Amino acid sequence: MGMCGIFATTNDQDAGKTILSGLKKLEYRGYDSWGIAVKGGGKLRSQKQTGRIAVSKTNLPKSKMGIGHTRWATHGGVTIGNAHPHFDCTGKLALIHNGIVDNYQDLEKKVKGHELAGETDSEIIAHLIEKELKTEKDLFLAVKKVVRLTEGYNAFVVMHQDFPYLVAAKTGSPLVIGVKPGENLLSSDVASLLGHTKQVIFLEDGQIAKIAPDVIRIESYTSAKEIKSVVQTINWTAKSASKSGFPHFMLKEIYDQPSVLTNIAESKVKEARELGKAIAKAKNIFMVACGTASYAALAGQYLFAGIAGKQVNSAIGSEFYYYDGFINTRSLCIALSQSGETIDTLQSVKFAKDRGAKAISLVNVKGSSLDRLSDETILLTAGPEKAVASTKAFLAKVAILLLAAHAMNRKTPHGVIEIKQATRAIRRILDFKYQKYLKKLAVKFKHSHSMFILGRGVSYPAALEAALKIKEVSYIHAEGFAAGELKHGVIALVNQNTPCLVFAPNDETYRDVISGAMEVKARGGLIIGISHKPNPMFDFYLPVPDSGNSTILPNVVVAQCLAYYLALARGLDPDMPRNLAKSVTVK
Ligand code: AGP
Repeated sequence: MGMCGIFATTNDQDAGKTILSGLKKLEYRGYDSWGIAVKGGGKLRSQKQTGRIAVSKTNLPKSKMGIGHTRWATHGGVTIGNAHPHFDCTGKLALIHNGIVDNYQDLEKKVKGHELAGETDSEIIAHLIEKELKTEKDLFLAVKKVVRLTEGYNAFVVMHQDFPYLVAAKTGSPLVIGVKPGENLLSSDVASLLGHTKQVIFLEDGQIAKIAPDVIRIESYTSAKEIKSVVQTINWTAKSASKSGFPHFMLKEIYDQPSVLTNIAESKVKEARELGKAIAKAKNIFMVACGTASYAALAGQYLFAGIAGKQVNSAIGSEFYYYDGFINTRSLCIALSQSGETIDTLQSVKFAKDRGAKAISLVNVKGSSLDRLSDETILLTAGPEKAVASTKAFLAKVAILLLAAHAMNRKTPHGVIEIKQATRAIRRILDFKYQKYLKKLAVKFKHSHSMFILGRGVSYPAALEAALKIKEVSYIHAEGFAAGELKHGVIALVNQNTPCLVFAPNDETYRDVISGAMEVKARGGLIIGISHKPNPMFDFYLPVPDSGNSTILPNVVVAQCLAYYLALARGLDPDMPRNLAKSVTVK
């Protein structure tokens, strides 16, 4: 199985070349092997390699049709045998797969005697289709019969030497058809299609498509009736999905943040007001999200409490089910997700909807599973976020929640002002001199064994997010925690020169967080103060002008930049951290 990239073309001048560049546009998602198969001269030809794509062209013959895949291993090690595409015994069928076939052991029994090259669940499906084809002469129908047997969240793409079309089937892992008459394409990610077409069809769960150069026919797994799918136009430009001159996507996306916030302040007020109304109406409200998005949700919890005096709970996606018992028709589930494909978040929303709750989502990718699952969606309109470490999507979510909190007080203009103040503060952080100082600090701390990040109130989720950024891209063990927790055990970890970032904004937490930092300093910790004013106890000071409730935004940008420079100082690629993928579409 793989969790990452799929790219396929039905009719191209040089399918291998086009697929290779399509896969390269997907590599930001993280992977550890890749492969391409094309129809060339009467049989399928393939090239598969472990590691990253290190070639500028394939060794495949020119061909019109092909499929390609980047794999992020879970079932079975990183080997050529486990890399996709997988083949059947005849070598005439090639299959690529994203997701996990939960019942692959049962299915394996049905292909006893078939020669398997690897140990993946995906390969079993290729042989099952081969077996089905012996009786069912039509590839589309054979694939349909087989995928109906599979359990789990998957996407399959099948190509066969004897059939002039591709078959794509989806039950959970994203698949997008690139509509280009005469040259229809397919990918797991809109961004890789942008250079070819902006017309796309998002396959829904339980749908299977026959894709030929001029034909797209979609049916559901369980009926032969054609489904008329909506062709959507993606208004991202290929440029916005590229690095446009920055050394890494992460840095580009950090620098996108002022315009992302400006756009939100100018165009999201109405939707934020609607969100505020939905919150006011609901009996109990849960925000649900994972990773960075969960810290945006936790920040929202403080903002709704502090600004609107409203209780809005937040839960981590993978923990949400354990709140069963009081999710009901009066509940509102607000899901936050950049990709809209995070399985733990998706399943939580399905769980809440099954209990009658209303689902509103803040999501960055239009047409994503979460967008389509939700009753209402507020698009972050942050533009494509490709670095594994989420930056601008985090700020966009918090900014929209901030606006909604002010809207509940009928003071939206105040929220707009705060976001504009935060934007000005961020521009100062992004200027050359400030960045130079952050780079210096990163070099100084690059060998730290661990780093602590302290915050109180809404600076507590800021501390958690700062820690995740540092962990994710520099692999330094960073721990964010509520400053008040120091005395309850955490302070035992402080060694001589342990760097400790302290969020000390101009709010009600200032005095207490400073005294917490003193405790760390008294035990040899080095204090890096992120604050609106200097303080004699700071060993290093990073100024962040006060922007009221939105100060969390520039505060987090300081941490994003520090994390980025720590990664560089440690010779790492911040865009593709080890073991991580941009969108976690498997449990
Ligand atoms: C954030 O930097 C990480 N890449 C990760 O925690 C991410 O936020 C999480 O997987 C949720 O992703 P989503 O926003 O696309 O749902």
